[in-house]
Amino acid sequence: MSDMRFDGKVAIVTGAGGGLGRAHALLLASRGAKVVVNDLGGAVDGSGSSQTPAQKVVEEIKALGGQAVADANTVATQAGGKAIVDAALKAFGAVHIIVNNAGILRDKSFRNMSPELFDPVIDVHLKGCVWTTHAAWELMREQNFGRVINTSSAAGLFGNFGQTNYSAAKMGIVGLTKTLALEGAKYNIKCNVLAPGARTRMTEDLMGERAAAMDPELVAHTVAYLAHESCSLTGEILSSSSGRVARVFVGACKGVTNREQMSPEFIRDNLAQIMSTDGFHIPAGAMDEISQR
Ligand code: NAI
Repeated sequence: MSDMRFDGKVAIVTGAGGGLGRAHALLLASRGAKVVVNDLGGAVDGSGSSQTPAQKVVEEIKALGGQAVADANTVATQAGGKAIVDAALKAFGAVHIIVNNAGILRDKSFRNMSPELFDPVIDVHLKGCVWTTHAAWELMREQNFGRVINTSSAAGLFGNFGQTNYSAAKMGIVGLTKTLALEGAKYNIKCNVLAPGARTRMTEDLMGERAAAMDPELVAHTVAYLAHESCSLTGEILSSSSGRVARVFVGACKGVTNREQMSPEFIRDNLAQIMSTDGFHIPAGAMDEISQR
């Protein structure tokens, strides 16, 4: 089998001035993609900005013989998303791949949550995926090709103490991606979710001894697979961390059906069967699940 290359493809990687995004950008560029290295260049909490991180990654890519341009627009607004896509069009004339990776943290227990902590996290993670992708969506439809990789998190999929804002954004990204996959299907636009784990500035204080195995470069291979023209997956979630890649899915259990005697007591008395994962299925869309009997 031939190597998976990206010659002739233009990729945007948001938040690529460091951490996971940098690894994604370096791998895609090393395999022939022309890369827009986007990064606002702020702190982990989203404060501040600098063009330096994106510029440094561009220099790394160029030193290795690749092609890249830096972009320091924010993903958090519709105007920012459009500016990032415009930067790709200006530099390389197309957009084929978007890796929505930019992210910030404003952790706080729910009782102490405030709009100042909640809203920017939704803006960067969830709306960042929305508006960057939206700005390229029509182009992708017209060229009958697109690969969108949206970055979620185990915190969104499974919950994590102190991260209601982050978890809400990250699970919102799953819903966004599942519907994008349906709307893009006719146009060969594949949209998938990455749930990564890696040693970065965002996680350096959290991972302890596990950090040693959590190279961002290992996760980048999952992104490259999902970005490739040969990838047939869409609407899927891949967990990728420490060299392990695994499907995560939203499934529905068989449950119980009883139109005649349905009651709260019926649910109480049949809870074990309702909760049983035996014979679960993975709905292809909302109607598929709603129409189950
Ligand atoms: P990181 O902090 O190194 O990278 C995030 C990058 O996004 C930073 O370079 C930052 O400047 C940039 N950024 C922030 N706000 C931006 C904005 N408005 N516009 C453009 N760029 C912006 O952290 P890391 O770990 O590399 O995170 C990458 C993604 O992976 C994030 O979405 C994060 O939530 C997600 N993730 C990471 C995990 C890990 O184990 N490192 C676990 C689960 C999810």
